[in-house]
Amino acid sequence: MHTITGNDIEAAKTWLMNGDVVGIPTETVYGLAANALNEDAVLKIFEAKNRPSFNPLIVHIANWRQAKEYVEHVPEKAKRLAVAFTPGPLTFLLQKRNTIPDLVTAGSDKVAIRIPNHPLTLALLDELDFPLAAPSANPFGYISPVTAQHVLEGLDGKIPYILDGGAATVGLESTIIGFDENENVLLYRSGGISAEQIEELLKEKVTVAKLASEEHPETAGQLKSHYAPHTALYVGDIDELKKHFEGKRIATISFTEQFEGIDEARQFILSNNADLDEAAKNLFTVLRLTDKLKVDVILAERFPDEGIGRAINDRLGKAQAENKS
Ligand code: TXA
Ligand code: MG
Repeated sequence: MHTITGNDIEAAKTWLMNGDVVGIPTETVYGLAANALNEDAVLKIFEAKNRPSFNPLIVHIANWRQAKEYVEHVPEKAKRLAVAFTPGPLTFLLQKRNTIPDLVTAGSDKVAIRIPNHPLTLALLDELDFPLAAPSANPFGYISPVTAQHVLEGLDGKIPYILDGGAATVGLESTIIGFDENENVLLYRSGGISAEQIEELLKEKVTVAKLASEEHPETAGQLKSHYAPHTALYVGDIDELKKHFEGKRIATISFTEQFEGIDEARQFILSNNADLDEAAKNLFTVLRLTDKLKVDVILAERFPDEGIGRAINDRLGKAQAENKS
């Protein structure tokens, strides 16, 4: 199969209507999209990504009116969060209706729903009469793509079309939330909307929870190696870590600092002005760059554990060498 990259919404629409998969831009990372209501189309996502089919997919819609067809009930707090933060990097786990195939949710009675904040993809969703199931558009286990070029690098020849919407503005995946029986917020994955932003809006604390899919015993090892470069990566105090790799070729990823005794060309600062949003936006691109340098080891700093800094630390933690199976 020949993979074409372009910004033609009509072309993307045609492929999707034919039951094919298309790379789509979002503000977080690029998605690998197919008609969420067509199981054969959804199966092609798992094939192209080489992803186990017991790992459920996020369903992308254009607006909350459409959600009524796919979810049973939207808690009051979800509505308030939706008004404040969507379209945007916030995904809601809600009770699903039968309209959503079990393949999309891996048999769960909850479906993950999100309205991505990207003009091209919103226009595309508006023109389709079905929602789009889409995981991140990377081969299973590798770093999520934030440009059309990244998608091509991982999936060239496996998908017919990539809709190029430029570089992702947030740069790491959406925050995933759900609700307990009392409709209090559970935070399943940190991402583009921070826990602080949610707490500030609702005037209450959120509870950190784990995704069942990440606790699945057979997949735990693989899922921990999510977002991982091929090169070994360690997270911590870089001045301390570098002592263990004397004589080795080292690349560093840090917030604002440079380090002595390491080639400057292999030192990557994520934000000169100590801006966590900018750091998040640069993270996956820099991870890919360091991976291409063919160094012996990548040393990354821990970021301030606040706001989107938590999501940066979460992704770096998952990319660590010791977590690769
Ligand atoms: O920003 C994002 O969320 C991107 C863009 C493309 O929208 N998507 C993304 O998808 O990150 P993915 O598949 O790489 O990560 C989605 C996570 C997975 O850990 C999956 O197991 C979980 O969400 N998930 C999806 N549906 C679920 C469900 N029904 N129940 C529990 N977990 C679910
Ligand atoms: Mg992913």
